[in-house]
Amino acid sequence: MDFAQLTRDLEALRSEALAQIVAAPDTAALESLEVEILGKKGRLTGILRGIGALPADDRPRVGAVANTIRQAVEAALRDRSAAVGGAELRARLLTERVDVTTPGRPIARGSLHPSIEAMADIARIFSQFGFVVHESPEVEDDRTNFQMLNIPPDHPARDLWDTLYVDQPGYLLRTHTSPGQIRVMQAMRPPIRALLPGRCFRYEAVDASHGFEFFQVEGLMVDEGTTLGDLKGLLDQFARAMFGANKRTRFRPGYYPFTEPSVAFDVECLVCGGPGCPACGRSGWMTILGAGMVHPVVLRNGGLDPERYQGFAFGMGPERISMLKHGITDLRLFMENDLRFLEQFA
Ligand code: DAH
Repeated sequence: MDFAQLTRDLEALRSEALAQIVAAPDTAALESLEVEILGKKGRLTGILRGIGALPADDRPRVGAVANTIRQAVEAALRDRSAAVGGAELRARLLTERVDVTTPGRPIARGSLHPSIEAMADIARIFSQFGFVVHESPEVEDDRTNFQMLNIPPDHPARDLWDTLYVDQPGYLLRTHTSPGQIRVMQAMRPPIRALLPGRCFRYEAVDASHGFEFFQVEGLMVDEGTTLGDLKGLLDQFARAMFGANKRTRFRPGYYPFTEPSVAFDVECLVCGGPGCPACGRSGWMTILGAGMVHPVVLRNGGLDPERYQGFAFGMGPERISMLKHGITDLRLFMENDLRFLEQFA
């Protein structure tokens, strides 16, 4: 290898490389040309490997030639890169153009299930009175679901709650949210203001007003000196917030083993407003919940001294409240998940 040969090789590389660069169609081609010509294992380095065989005087001259070639190649790469880059950008802008006049695709809006919506409304209203939501299990033991609530085995009142049992002896699907009262009392000290929403289960033949699966919202307040007057005031406020400020309400005597006295709470019929109609059984009133003063036995079962503490409790069905509010006449609609029904709440 001599100086003249090496210089010829370099000149040949220069013209070939420049021609290839000018012809490169896109950025990717330019990038691989750069590696191929100027890279560590590229063609320029390949030729310069012969430099070691030259006399020492010739080496800087070859180096100088190689440098001008490197600069020329780099300049050509830059120029070509700018040209194809611009073209590529123009092409992308054309193909990816957004037509801002295209009509948008409508977004399907979901909605809360009416049972959930009613429970959220109930929780919102009672939270304004300081009630805090608690959870309590759906699979409950007989003791907490019944016995601690003053309903011993074989008590006739058990007929009010037809029960679904699970395989584990002594356990059942809770028939109401009232056992949550016991759990809350055992877990915390008064003052207690607890709200217990949840799913309940009963061994019921399903019809327009009975389901085997439904929701309840339980309320419990316990403190020193809590009275039936507090309960009445609270429920009146609740009914006005839920159904309207001018709605009349009334309390009637009721019976539950876990409250004494027990009451039923009615709102004036939302359909006829008083005179009586088929929706209210011609009475002019609609019952929305059961309630009462917590029975001393139940307070004691919750670990509280009934001489010191008094409490009231109430239990309501959010589906029933939703039915009254929206004029829904069949409870089954809440569990069937028919979209034609549910979409009306969007
Ligand atoms: N647990 C009752 C039921 O399922 C409803 C109820 C009535 C709850 C009176 C209460 C109450 O807390 O005081 O029918």
